[in-house]
Amino acid sequence: MEEVTKATSEFAESVAVVTVKQGDKLNAMTAAWTVPVSHRPALVVVHIAPQRLTHDMIVETKEFGLSILADDQMELSQHAGTVSGRKVDKFASGLLKSKPPKVIETPLLEGCAATLECRLEKAISMGDHTIFVGRVVALERDPNKKPLILHRGIYYRLGESVGRYY
Ligand SMILES: Cc1cc2nc3c(=O)[nH]c(=O)nc-3n(C[C@H](O)[C@H](O)[C@H](O)COP(=O)(O)O)c2cc1C
Repeated sequence: MEEVTKATSEFAESVAVVTVKQGDKLNAMTAAWTVPVSHRPALVVVHIAPQRLTHDMIVETKEFGLSILADDQMELSQHAGTVSGRKVDKFASGLLKSKPPKVIETPLLEGCAATLECRLEKAISMGDHTIFVGRVVALERDPNKKPLILHRGIYYRLGESVGRYY
């Protein structure tokens, strides 16, 4: 029988960068465990392990930005997802470029497929992650960009369409 913890890698996921700003400190972390949960109100969730700096900053500020990466932003995903803001300023190298928010205080990232501004609705501790439920208060989309996809630890571009849902 397969090791059951591997089940988490069986989903094809879009890759987002969660941004959070506390005072002068702006941080960003990559998150593949993000998912929409409600149309009205517009609610999305991001699952973040308690040891991440981003986790504690969201608990404090009660808001976060969600920048859904485009398929030319893999390098940026690796940068924000392999080192902690506790050790480095992830914006210092210039790879991550912030863009001003419209509603919340936290900046988002430039060049993404979509950016969502979220106010924290609820935090639920679940297993080894915390589920942060965010209410989307602003959305920007770039119709010319496609999302970066992650499956079994490998990054992909979307392939050709095989049909229409709606
Ligand atoms: C592709 C990818 C996806 C990731 N997805 C998540 C995730 O969904 N939740 C999470 O807690 N960490 C996730 N991580 C790990 C964090 O991004 C990583 O631990 C990061 O360094 C935390 O930064 P921070 O301490 O500055 O918050 C992911 C990393 C990568 C590269």
